Amino acid sequence: MPDRVYRVAIVGLGRMGSTIDDELPPGTPPMAVAAACRLSPFLAVVAGADIDPAKRAAFQARWGVDALYEDYLEMIRQEEPDLVAICTRGPLHAEMTVGAAEAGAKMIFCEKAMACSMEEADAALAAVSSRGIPFNTGVLRRFNRVYHQARDLIADGAIGEPRTAVHYAGTNLLHGHIHSLDTLSFLLGDPGIVSVWGELLPRELSLDQNRLDSDPNAVYRVEFANGVEATTVPAGTWEFEVLGSRGSVRVLNNGERVLLRQAGDARGRTLREVPVPPVSPHSATQFCLEDLVDAYETGRPSLGNVQLTHHLTEACLAVAESHRQGSRVTLPLANRSLYIHHV
Ligand SMILES: NC(=O)c1ccc[n+]([C@@H]2O[C@H](COP(=O)([O-])OP(=O)(O)OC[C@H]3O[C@@H](n4cnc5c(N)ncnc54)[C@H](O)[C@@H]3O)[C@@H](O)[C@H]2O)c1
Repeated sequence: MPDRVYRVAIVGLGRMGSTIDDELPPGTPPMAVAAACRLSPFLAVVAGADIDPAKRAAFQARWGVDALYEDYLEMIRQEEPDLVAICTRGPLHAEMTVGAAEAGAKMIFCEKAMACSMEEADAALAAVSSRGIPFNTGVLRRFNRVYHQARDLIADGAIGEPRTAVHYAGTNLLHGHIHSLDTLSFLLGDPGIVSVWGELLPRELSLDQNRLDSDPNAVYRVEFANGVEATTVPAGTWEFEVLGSRGSVRVLNNGERVLLRQAGDARGRTLREVPVPPVSPHSATQFCLEDLVDAYETGRPSLGNVQLTHHLTEACLAVAESHRQGSRVTLPLANRSLYIHHV
């Protein structure tokens, strides 16, 4: 348990930095970084940076923070925050991660996805890992206790041997599937991804220029190092299911609750629901930021550490590379410059 309050500086004072909770149903636990910090006894927002003067003024009025900057590097140099939270859009994530690391950030939260290409991701990995900086991204299911309950049931053998994992919901590649790949990996205990088959939609989409300036919808099938295959079904609401030799675990309705089903007979031909305890509502953003503090204090890797995030970003970009090549690709990706824009 930390015995001090860590100073947080936010870069990008828009929805995820400041206001996204206005869009969520009343009673939803805080999601914006500023709101999650207010909830935490260990975190205080002391500064913010945004190129838009109106965003700076709105942030000051809403959160009572007076140390506001146009230039995020100037903010880090002047304020020397402990934790820098990068809440700008995708094309700035890797560049700002490198900038924050070089300017002396002790912990970094960066919105997902960490980069638009593996060249960018490699630079962010080098800047963060060489300094031992605890790092997490905004893949918030990894920091949601409902998904932790599902992961723990799977790890404890509640469904026997995991065989297949499925994600449901149509979504785009670097904005959406960075979440789905991260959650599938998390539920399986992050065994590492070996190979990826993918297709961008529409299927005739060309990657001849090795670059897309918009984020395409995509489907994939990935092979994990433990032999489990995971796939995405491009329909339905956000749900995840891991099917094992003796049952299945499914996270329903975008994290509402866990459905555990176990074999009802010796041959496992019928599955019966087994109740699991409800999980109390909580802020995944707060969990994510406090995980950084704990990693900083104890020296353990953060839950979404930079090596893991770099690997899962590579798997995500491999979906596009597989589309480009028309075949399954193995990791690591040879094509480091393939660039997919995302917000
Ligand atoms: N984890 C999640 O579930 C989740 C939810 C929403 C958004 N996001 C992610 O958060 C990121 C931000 O999204 P958003 O919806 O908050 O965007 P937004 O446009 O509302 O906010 C981004 C802010 O960054 C500012 N900005 C742009 N360039 C800047 C610079 N050079 N220096 C400082 N500030 C700069 C903009 O003026 C803007 O205020 C995106 O990557 C998005 O994918 C994640």
